[in-house]
Amino acid sequence: MSSQTPYKVLCVCLGNICRSPTAEIVLRHFCDEANLNVIIDSAGTSNYHPNKAPDSRSQLHAKKRGYDLSALRARQLITQDFIEFDLILAMDYENLDNIQQLMRRAEQEFGASQLRAAVSLMSQHDPDFPQQEVPDPYYGGQDGFEHVLNQCESSSRAWVQIFKAQKPQSKQPKLKVN
Ligand code: 4NP
Repeated sequence: MSSQTPYKVLCVCLGNICRSPTAEIVLRHFCDEANLNVIIDSAGTSNYHPNKAPDSRSQLHAKKRGYDLSALRARQLITQDFIEFDLILAMDYENLDNIQQLMRRAEQEFGASQLRAAVSLMSQHDPDFPQQEVPDPYYGGQDGFEHVLNQCESSSRAWVQIFKAQKPQSKQPKLKVN
């Protein structure tokens, strides 16, 4: 993971205004702290909030832990993302289904050999929330936003251990993540 080619990770939820922007910033924090050459972005399976800043509640709760979400803007997941990114992380199982559906479209559009993205759950390797969904906080109370942060921190620590274990390569291999 210390090769010159950055490893590219895309965090994905439904709206790209609550969970995946939080995951993007938290995962970036832990990767930077570990000196990993990783680029992180986020997107939504829907196009409900194009170009919108993260939900003000997500921003507020994140800020209390020192994370700044304010510069992020929502966008929808597109087929090109399966070519651009090495790893796409779904926040919940519905996201995972929708990502896999779009991946089949990307295969038809570009050919399977052109796709580089592995698809996994954010919590895939998380010992505290193993394969658990990051619950959607949008229609709930403040606890939900704190829970998103707790889970994103825990899962990001787990991903950093996985990334650290990858040998430096000129072309990054697909991770065995599923
Ligand atoms: P997110 O949360 O998927 O974590 O960004 C949501 C944001 C907006 C909506 C649903 C979930 N919505 O229905 O507008």
